[in-house]
Amino acid sequence: MRIAIVCYSLTGHTFEMAGEIARGIEEEGAEARIFNIRTDEVDAEYIRSASGLIIGTPTYMASSVWQVKKWIEEDSRPLSLSGKLGGAFATAHYAQGGQDTAIMDILGQLLVKGMLVYSGGGSFGLPIIHHGPVALDKEGDHYDESREMFRVYGRRFAAKALELFGK
Ligand SMILES: Cc1cc2nc3c(=O)[nH]c(=O)nc-3n(C[C@H](O)[C@H](O)[C@H](O)COP(=O)(O)O)c2cc1C
Repeated sequence: MRIAIVCYSLTGHTFEMAGEIARGIEEEGAEARIFNIRTDEVDAEYIRSASGLIIGTPTYMASSVWQVKKWIEEDSRPLSLSGKLGGAFATAHYAQGGQDTAIMDILGQLLVKGMLVYSGGGSFGLPIIHHGPVALDKEGDHYDESREMFRVYGRRFAAKALELFGK
């Protein structure tokens, strides 16, 4: 079971939370690789062979960053995303900074690609994850407290992918 995490990260917060998700995925017995589209070449073969794809973005102007939108819209075209399990997460500065809008922008695009989208869910109890996990950047206490939620999200996402697609 391979799961890919594709994110854009300029100052490191989104990339760090991608690392927490990857840890959760691995705890569930699946494989995870992270690609920061700002610095890394995305391994097309890995994405093609992955059953799940999680997209991460900083919140800019209460939205996902344009680089993520472009990656999904243009660069992912040859990657056969249809039918994969998809999810999204965001980091932001303000509690009211638009991170939910950023996540929903991405989930909408993944639906257009024909993917199955998954939030991590509220029905498993705490932590309740509404649309996808969110961390506020390092300026406040919330940042380190968020790490466990991102790991739980990774575990839930991998468990759902294993349930749907097997090993
Ligand atoms: C140009 C710009 C626009 C931003 N707009 C928002 C915003 O609308 N809402 C918000 O809460 N934070 C905003 N931020 C803060 C970032 O979302 C936050 O610091 C994020 O964690 C950065 O991610 P990174 O460290 O992975 O690059 C903005 C930052 C920049 C540089």
